[in-house]
Amino acid sequence: MARSRRPQQSSVPQEPRAPRAKGRGGAGDRPPAKTGDRPGPERDAGNAGGRERRGGRPQGEDPAAPAKRLELEPPGGARPRLVAPVVLAVSPGRDYELLDSGDGEKLERYGDLRVRRPENQAIWPRRLGAPEWENADALFTGDVEEEGLGRWQFPREPLGETWPLAHDGMSYLGRFTSFRHVGVFPEQAAHWAFVEDRIRRRAKQGEAPRVLNLFGYTGLASLLAARAGAEVTHVDASKKAIGWARENQEIAGLSGRPIRWICEDAVRYVEREVKRGSRYDVILLDPPKFGRGPKGETWQLFEDLPYLVALTRALLSDTPDCVVLTAYSIRASFYSLGAVMGEAFRGLGGAIEAGELVIGEAGEEPRLLSTSLFCRWIAE
Ligand SMILES: C[S@@+](CC[C@H](N)C(=O)[O-])C[C@H]1O[C@@H](n2cnc3c(N)ncnc32)[C@H](O)[C@@H]1O
Repeated sequence: MARSRRPQQSSVPQEPRAPRAKGRGGAGDRPPAKTGDRPGPERDAGNAGGRERRGGRPQGEDPAAPAKRLELEPPGGARPRLVAPVVLAVSPGRDYELLDSGDGEKLERYGDLRVRRPENQAIWPRRLGAPEWENADALFTGDVEEEGLGRWQFPREPLGETWPLAHDGMSYLGRFTSFRHVGVFPEQAAHWAFVEDRIRRRAKQGEAPRVLNLFGYTGLASLLAARAGAEVTHVDASKKAIGWARENQEIAGLSGRPIRWICEDAVRYVEREVKRGSRYDVILLDPPKFGRGPKGETWQLFEDLPYLVALTRALLSDTPDCVVLTAYSIRASFYSLGAVMGEAFRGLGGAIEAGELVIGEAGEEPRLLSTSLFCRWIAE
């Protein structure tokens, strides 16, 4: 179990001590499998290898060797005030709505397209009739024999891999992927609105807030943060996802905005930033349960999250604003996330909100579809 230590009084850590030998993976474990370039599958794929403990973070030339963790001072002071449970609900809108859910599936509208996908949480009956469900433009088949687009069916007319979408006036591409994802997680809109608002307020005071977006996927949070006036560093292990995010930047008309696109393992990048003494005002983390860095580094949420959260604390500026963490498909409580953040952020003041991100159905008496756990630290 990783332990993190950081300075007792200051909210900004001292220069980190010499790295201490602490593996993120088991030294004697199998070497990591070849790194795939599959962005985002881990979110709800049931467990893409997450049960196994694989080889650790590469060190030097040996990708199977466990990595050393930075030694951080344990934080002192009181834990930030915990506010829980907090439920953040996304309601139907022009760009997106959850039309219906039930019997293990959900029917959504993304722009002009109606998309039908599996949904484990939807154990209740559907409200709409069969014709509505059968009228979907895209249907995820879950055919395990197929790769990529082959797992999608387009009953009405053949569709390409992408289609135009927008969020709050910002254009981007929806995208059918082999992991039943569509290039966007609409429930994240609750975080986007919150972060954009905080960035705008800071930017109005004359300085562009610095935002670090870890596990950034197709880049929507990065783009919205940049549009609101932030300088953004976006990190993802998948070259493909970085490519999609850059494409979205162009489509959004935000090419001139300051976004650094980094294809790297999130933990390695953050460790390097800590050593360099970099600082951020806003940090976003949307880690999968299990993932791999570009060099085969292993990400295991339960093992690595406390360390990563402790590292993010070490990256906070003298006037930090917020840290937002989302976790999907894990057997844990939002109280666990709150406790991880609470310990790492001792002495920072402010509040930690923890709860769930949910999506409300369209129509009368909407049911709330739970999508993920979240936890966020907010400066006060
Ligand atoms: C579920 S997606 C995040 C979704 C995104 N934040 C959003 O709301 O649209 C998880 C992302 O983490 C990336 N990833 C997986 N393991 C990683 C690692 N070790 N370091 C950095 N990124 C990783 C994947 O490539 C994927 O894009």
